[in-house]
Amino acid sequence: MSPGGQLNGTIRVPGDKSMSHRSIMLGALADGVTRVHGFLEGEDSLATLQAFRAMGVQIEGPESGEVTIHGVGIDGLKAPSVSLDLGNSGTSMRLLSGLLGAQNFDVTLVGDESLSSRPMRRVTEPLAAMGLTVETTESGTAPLKLNGGQKPQAINYDMPMASAQVKSCLLLAGLYADGETCVTEPAPTRDHTERMLRGFGYDVRSESNRMCLTGGGRLTAVDLDVPADISSAAFFLVGASIASGSDLTLEHVGINPTRIGVINILRQMGANIEVLNERDAGGEPVADLRVRSAQLKGIEIPEEQVPLAIDEFPVLFVAAACAEGETRLTGAEELRVKESDRIQVMADGLQAIGIDAEPTPDGMVIQGGAEITGGKVDSHGDHRIAMAFAIASLRSSGSIEIDDCANVNTSFPGFGDLVNSIGMSLEEVS
Ligand code: S3P
Repeated sequence: MSPGGQLNGTIRVPGDKSMSHRSIMLGALADGVTRVHGFLEGEDSLATLQAFRAMGVQIEGPESGEVTIHGVGIDGLKAPSVSLDLGNSGTSMRLLSGLLGAQNFDVTLVGDESLSSRPMRRVTEPLAAMGLTVETTESGTAPLKLNGGQKPQAINYDMPMASAQVKSCLLLAGLYADGETCVTEPAPTRDHTERMLRGFGYDVRSESNRMCLTGGGRLTAVDLDVPADISSAAFFLVGASIASGSDLTLEHVGINPTRIGVINILRQMGANIEVLNERDAGGEPVADLRVRSAQLKGIEIPEEQVPLAIDEFPVLFVAAACAEGETRLTGAEELRVKESDRIQVMADGLQAIGIDAEPTPDGMVIQGGAEITGGKVDSHGDHRIAMAFAIASLRSSGSIEIDDCANVNTSFPGFGDLVNSIGMSLEEVS
């Protein structure tokens, strides 16, 4: 990345990853044909798509974000002839462990090196309480061997951590259980599974932090409009805030209240973000976001915002590095078990480019306002770390070299071309 630049223009970032995964899963299980518009053609959501093809679901596309899924009905999936390779995608593995654990066939879920080191007991333990056996390695990681042919029992589960993946896993298993499955979360997490199930005509009841559904129903196909991913927009919300002279509009971004922590946190830091043309896209709120550069200030990030911004911390740390004063994050130990240990890897990278960043067990303390000198950072194969450091170059005096970037394609295909088209200078070296 060459240093400096400003971000101007109007762009639409790719489709929401969480919704893209769920559109394939629910479309496959529905009765009828589901047409998806705005599907994310990234490696993670494509891994989910391929998994359902391997289970006999006919899926056309994606082509320019259009996907057509010929639903097989709630009991229509077929045993795949091979293990399902879910690549880097934690969402695929955790949601499918619940959904496929309840089928009448055996299946094995595998992933890449990063996914094979992420904790899976958070799903296998409650699934065992539902009577579904999922074998892990001794350390509780993938490969996951799901033994089919067991009917899940409905449970009431109090989640020990705020995780939409765990919640969704159990609700999807609950579709096949006799009776009512309820999941209680310690703090609100993204509710796309609940909203999309309702969109497919399935009754999901939520009462504050408790979500319930009764098994044995059916899903009816719908047309879905997947908005742009706020987690991808986040790189530009920060980039345009920190690069002076910027004025950038991000179109059709999903602003579900369980996802807007990044807007709330940046505004508290002094960012100038306008939410324009708010509208509804098939049960999900969307808007255009206009962001102009602003002098940011360091803050104590409110802990209740953490689950609402959980994927945005790599780039929020870059915002903190550019802010006046200290920024302190606590209550975010989940960041240690993402695609990489995002606390350690970001602290190492920030230090390598001249920033005082001190990792703590559950967060980080960053002294903002110093010169970003540039240097060499290792993204550890984590897409969001690589993109966060690309954004840091907007305020760097020297160039930033980022290693191990191929996984940017898991969530944001075309990132390099897009940033170059609006005023940055990113060069890919293979
Ligand atoms: C996701 C939930 C979050 C998030 C991930 C996508 C989802 O994970 O980090 O990128 O689609 O449900 P957790 O629920 O484990 O926090």
